[in-house]
Amino acid sequence: MNKIGICGAGLIGASWAIGFANAGYIPYVYDSSPNSVDNFNKYFDDLVKDLKIIDPNINEDKIRNNIKLNCTIDQICENAVLIQESIVEDLKVKQDVYKELDRLTSKETILASSSSYLVISEISEFVEHKNRCINAHPALPPHVVPFVEVVGSQDTSEEIINKALTIYKKANYAAILVKKETEGFVLNRLQGALLNEAVRLHEGGFASMEDIDIALKHALGIRWAFMGPFEIMDLNAPEGIKDSFSRYRTGIQNLAKQQNTVPSYSDEYLDKLDKEQRQRLAYQDRPDRIKKRNQMIALIRKLKLELGEDV
Ligand SMILES: NC(=O)c1ccc[n+]([C@@H]2O[C@H](COP(=O)([O-])OP(=O)(O)OC[C@H]3O[C@@H](n4cnc5c(N)ncnc54)[C@H](O)[C@@H]3O)[C@@H](O)[C@H]2O)c1
Repeated sequence: MNKIGICGAGLIGASWAIGFANAGYIPYVYDSSPNSVDNFNKYFDDLVKDLKIIDPNINEDKIRNNIKLNCTIDQICENAVLIQESIVEDLKVKQDVYKELDRLTSKETILASSSSYLVISEISEFVEHKNRCINAHPALPPHVVPFVEVVGSQDTSEEIINKALTIYKKANYAAILVKKETEGFVLNRLQGALLNEAVRLHEGGFASMEDIDIALKHALGIRWAFMGPFEIMDLNAPEGIKDSFSRYRTGIQNLAKQQNTVPSYSDEYLDKLDKEQRQRLAYQDRPDRIKKRNQMIALIRKLKLELGEDV
């Protein structure tokens, strides 16, 4: 009951395999690309290095030995409790793979898609046993961000949803339930609202990219690392959340009225964005900045754990 099938072993699939293996599951990994094992081995060392920042006692050998690389699709399906599909974000390709997974697995196996935007009702449209199909969307970079949001279609059984949530929690992910299918789920809807507003502020000439980034990383982001918006509002006025919202609702509603335009994201604007970005951040530094991002997240995770957070 601890075998997990990993279907697609790119950035996300490799990270899932390491996360599950670290929690004692045995991930069997399948990828259609002949380069996938080399790529996996290339990712492995860096991903484990970041994990060691969070917990220096992590057993690298146990993780590596638990992961079975270079499997066929049949091998990952046999007796798997859950298949984590993490292939390319293409509806037709995912639909084809889902038909195959449905055919090859026992009817109790959960078929979970890492998809960022494609919803499970569409991915599983041609699947016979839709009741066991879910979206299980992680956050980048998933080896150090311990999050997954689970959502089913109208055909998904409640039992499968609960079983999946239990598995992800056992694998040390903060797993949330999205009660109804919605494009972008919870994570990308929150992120999209913020990105659109950052662009509106920048395009409208209200602040520079640099200053908008500062407002996030030196103000909101520091709080958001350990408190969500509803937890924060509970502390914003003496009587708690209701007091906070009633004091500030007119201002918040006024903003909502102004924040409903769709930015054009025109080529011209994207060129401008790129030019301004390159004046402050060199393109060639991206690998270093990715490394720094992952290490900073790992350090924040370590601190959160030391301060008593669960994950
Ligand atoms: N990268 C992100 O920020 C992120 C975050 C959350 C979720 N996701 C989702 O995770 C999924 C994978 O994204 P990624 O960033 O790992 O992409 P990736 O390109 O790094 O990896 C995709 C892997 O799937 C393999 N593949 C493609 N078609 C296949 C098939 N038919 N059968 C088996 N293997 C196949 C490829 O060889 C590749 O190794 C996507 O659905 C994406 O939306 C991505």
